[in-house]
Amino acid sequence: MNTNLSLRLEAIAKMVPPSRGLADIGSDHCLLPLSLANREDIAFLQAIDNKQGPYQNMVKAVKEAHMENRISLSLSNGLDCLDEKVDTIVLAGMGGKLIADILTRGKRNLTHIEYILLDAHRDLRYVREFVLGLGYAIIDENLIKEKDLFYSIILFKKGETPILNEEDLLFGPFIRRKRGKDYIDFLLQNKKRIAKILQGDISLNNRRYYDYLLNAINKELSA
Ligand SMILES: C[S@@+](CC[C@H](N)C(=O)[O-])C[C@H]1O[C@@H](n2cnc3c(N)ncnc32)[C@H](O)[C@@H]1O
Repeated sequence: MNTNLSLRLEAIAKMVPPSRGLADIGSDHCLLPLSLANREDIAFLQAIDNKQGPYQNMVKAVKEAHMENRISLSLSNGLDCLDEKVDTIVLAGMGGKLIADILTRGKRNLTHIEYILLDAHRDLRYVREFVLGLGYAIIDENLIKEKDLFYSIILFKKGETPILNEEDLLFGPFIRRKRGKDYIDFLLQNKKRIAKILQGDISLNNRRYYDYLLNAINKELSA
C-alpha cells in the first residue's frame, strides 16, 4: 500500500472489498486507485472526475506511476460513464448531499453495483438514510481521526436493510457498537462545539436542532 496516503485514504483503502471492478468517483489525484493497483483481488480500476484540473492530475499521476494499463481514466460526471465491469463504487471527500445527488442522477447504473464505500464529510445522517433507501445495508463502518478532524467511512452492500434507530442513523450502527476511543473523542469534541453554538444568538429552528443533537450526544456518552 502507498505509504504517502493520508490516514483517511488508508482507512478507505483497507475497507475496499475484493471486486470485479472498482470506480473511484471524484478521484482528483487518483490516490486511492493507485494505492489499490497492486491488489490482485480487484480485477479492474476506474478513476472518474468531472473537472478538467482534477482529471489532468489523474492523467499525470497515473502516467508517472506507469499504471496506464491498470487504471482507466474518465472525465465524466458521477456514474454517467461507469465501466460495465464495475461492481464497487467509492465516493470520498465530498458532502453527503453531493453524494446523494450523484447517486440519484446515476440511479440506473446502480443495478450492477454490489458495494458503495462512502466518506461523506457532512450530512452523515442524511446520506446514511439515503443510501439505505436505495436498497443497500451498512455492513461496516470506521471512524478515523486525522489532525483533529473525524471521518466516518461507511461500507454499504446491496441487500436487506435492517431498521436503524435514530442514534444509529446519526452516529453509525457499527461505530456505536465498536465504541473506540476516537468515537468518545468525537462525541466530546462535538458536545463542546454545540454547547458553544447554543450560547450564541441563533434562530429558534437552529436552537431546536442543536438541542436535539446535544441531547443525543449526552445520551450516547452515558450509554
Ligand atoms: C475534495 S475532492 C476528493 C478527492 C478524493 N476522492 C479524496 O477523497 O481525497 C472531490 C473531487 O470530486 C470531484 N467531483 C465533484 N463532483 C463530481 C461529480 N459529479 N462527478 C465526478 N467528480 C466529481 C471534484 O472535481 C473533486 O476532484
